[in-house]
Amino acid sequence: MTIETDLLAARRRLLGPSLSLSYRTPLHIVRGEGAYLYDADGREYLDCVNNVAHVGHAHPRVVEAGAVQMRLLNTNTRYLHENVLRYAERLTALLPDHLEVCYFTNSGSEANELALRLARTATGRPDVAVVDVAYHGNTQRLVEVSPYKFDGPGGAGKPDDVQVVPLPDPYRGAHRGMTTSTADAYLAAARDVIAAAEAAGHPAGAVIAEPIASVAGQVVPPPGWLAGLFDAARAVGAVPIADEVQVGFGRVGVATWAFDAQGARPDIVTMGKPIGNGHPLGAVVTTRAIADAFANGMEYFNTFGGNPVSAAIGLAVLDVIEEEGLREHGRVTGDRLLAGLHALAERHESIGDVRGMGLFIGIELVRDRNTLEPDADLAHELANRAAARGVLLSTDGLFHNVMKIKPPLVFSADDADRLIETVDTVLAELAAV
Ligand SMILES: Cc1ncc(COP(=O)(O)O)c(C=O)c1O
Repeated sequence: MTIETDLLAARRRLLGPSLSLSYRTPLHIVRGEGAYLYDADGREYLDCVNNVAHVGHAHPRVVEAGAVQMRLLNTNTRYLHENVLRYAERLTALLPDHLEVCYFTNSGSEANELALRLARTATGRPDVAVVDVAYHGNTQRLVEVSPYKFDGPGGAGKPDDVQVVPLPDPYRGAHRGMTTSTADAYLAAARDVIAAAEAAGHPAGAVIAEPIASVAGQVVPPPGWLAGLFDAARAVGAVPIADEVQVGFGRVGVATWAFDAQGARPDIVTMGKPIGNGHPLGAVVTTRAIADAFANGMEYFNTFGGNPVSAAIGLAVLDVIEEEGLREHGRVTGDRLLAGLHALAERHESIGDVRGMGLFIGIELVRDRNTLEPDADLAHELANRAAARGVLLSTDGLFHNVMKIKPPLVFSADDADRLIETVDTVLAELAAV
């Protein structure tokens, strides 16, 4: 019996079984630093997956900010305190002027749940329009607005008060190519869905979308799509919500927010994952009008949201992104990675598509470049063989055939080269089998 077999047995006994482990041989990770993770035997792994450890695992500045504030005070937000206000000021300064009121939560799910409540109270409409294959969180209502879940294993299907617009997938969707005419075709379909629901007495109160679809397989929409979708929402009186839980805080390189990089204008933005570098934190930022409508007498209280420790950690994350120039670093490293992966696609027939922005990249694996038949087995094998070589990747997408790359932003040029080399070696190895 190794310690790992003991841990596995304890996990099976003690934890809810609806939670899987990564990799054929589960890893026993005990330490992280920068873009690297270390197992109990001291073996090093390059983390190409964890966009939560945004500024690097265990960043000393973030750890210190949390520890200093924990030694001093942690309370709820019913007292006056500088931290939450400094943090709200810093966050809103990063957003367009009309997004000026903050709410703090403990996760991306809580942020999205609150965003839906805000929109519903402001419009009086419970219906929500969502993008196909999207995932927005783990609460009951968020599962109901997440096609990835309600159409997936164990799902109960689409509820009547949810409308699904097509995923604008320029690689394998109904309309292909990264062009504005592709965007227009998807937008026409989205408008039809929204109009049909309105005609059937189900007008949308909110339209929620990720600027880049993450669980759908890092799908970058064609230019103009997100802006058009949010305009279509406004045209019917629905609140446009940008879910930046995966792609915010400079992940896409060219801008702090992925909606901004696409020229879109949301009235609510939700944040999570990278915001606290691993500390449980989330945020919702909205307009004064929506916040005022929500202040209808029912108080919104969140015991831990916006506490002085979380705010200190959130502030430290913003400081590190800025002082270490991580957004720009991610853009340059992401471009290097994309170029290297495109070059691999010329040699490996199994790479059907390489796409992404900044350090948010997907490699779509196919059995046939003409039919686009997805190759989930290859994706699964690549992730496992790369992990055995010390490089951690994950798979996702409707067909589980997309390798997801979203490392801590401190990922270096050498790390990018190592990742490319590993994918190259493993794909060559598997092609020879
Ligand atoms: C796009 C998106 N929104 C929301 C969530 C929910 O965040 P959390 O797991 O922190 O509740 C996730 C989690 O994976 C996500 O990918």
